[in-house]
Amino acid sequence: ARERTFVMAKPDAVQRGLIGEIVSRIEERGLKLVGGKFMQIDDELARDHYGEHVDKPFFDDLTTFITSGPVFAMVWEGQDATRQVRQMMGETDPADAAPGTIRGDYALDLGRNVIHGSDHEDPGANEREIDLFFDEEELLDYERID
Ligand code: CMP
Repeated sequence: ARERTFVMAKPDAVQRGLIGEIVSRIEERGLKLVGGKFMQIDDELARDHYGEHVDKPFFDDLTTFITSGPVFAMVWEGQDATRQVRQMMGETDPADAAPGTIRGDYALDLGRNVIHGSDHEDPGANEREIDLFFDEEELLDYERID
C-alpha cells in the first residue's frame, strides 16, 4: 500500500557530506519526498526515538552519537515505502550489508551506520517516528511525476 516512512541521515552522514547521495538514491528509486528538516536532536528526542533500546548496553553510546551533530530528517512516500527504504539501506550492521545498499557502500561501523529508516517489521513505527519529528503541516502534498 501507499504509505509514508521516516528516514534520517545520521550525524556521520552529514559530517561526511553524504546527504545528497542518500536523498538522490531514494529520489531516483521513485519515492516522493514530502518532508525534510535539518536539525540537531536533543536528549529527550533521542530517548523517545530510541526508547525500544533503553535497556540495551549500547543505549548511551547511541543517544550520545545521534545528538552529537546535525541530522537530516526526512519523510518519504510511496508504494511500500518503509520496506523499500529498508532494502536500499541494507543490514543494520554495515559489515553484513550487501554492496549496492547505502550502508554496504558507505559504512563499516555498527554505530556509525549513516542512515536510519523505520522498521517495517514493527507496524506503526513509521507513523510514530514521523509524529515525533514532524508536525503534520510540515508534510507537503503535491504531485510528483515519476
Ligand atoms: P538504527 O537503525 O538507527 O536503530 C538502532 C541503532 O542502534 C542501529 O541503527 C545501530 O546504529 C545501533 N546499534 C545496534 N546495535 C548496536 C550495538 N551493538 N552497538 C552500538 N550500536 C548499535
